[in-house]
Amino acid sequence: MSIAHSDAVTDEQIAHLVRTFYGRARSDEVIGPIFASAVHDWDHHIAQITDFWSSMLLKTGRYGGRPMRPHLVLNLAPEHFDRWLKLFEATATELFAPELAAEFIIRARRIADSFEMGIATTQGKVASPRHSV
Ligand code: HEM
Repeated sequence: MSIAHSDAVTDEQIAHLVRTFYGRARSDEVIGPIFASAVHDWDHHIAQITDFWSSMLLKTGRYGGRPMRPHLVLNLAPEHFDRWLKLFEATATELFAPELAAEFIIRARRIADSFEMGIATTQGKVASPRHSV
């Protein structure tokens, strides 16, 4: 059963995960500097990412953006994605029961792969999924 049809996650839980994760990402020595130079309005970013996960997991339709685009111009390398996922997975695992954490983690890995493959394409390269196989 899809969790969109269960009471497994709430918007409050999503908001808590997003706030906790970005609090850590901002002060991380590997990816913190990227966020520091690229994000000018943290309230907006947090709200947008909360809407993004709400749309993914609860099918609320609150996010209608194109997530690939900003990541193509950030000069992101594989080690940045490795670090992002490590922090995100640790945070989800800490806050949620294993089944719910896995719902976030499986999607985050797929999206990280799609971003990595999109970035490779802009460089005339072909990348294979590294996180979701
Ligand atoms: C190294 C990894 C990553 C870095 C450094 C990064 C950084 C950023 C930055 C700087 C923005 C623009 C924020 C702004 O303009 O206020 C952004 C937007 C966004 N990011 Fe990431 N990101 C990463 C990975 C991911 C992953 C794995 C996901 C999804 C699971 C994700 C989801 C999003 C979404 C949904 C947006 C909003 C896009 C829009 O509609 O404008 N990001 N990210």
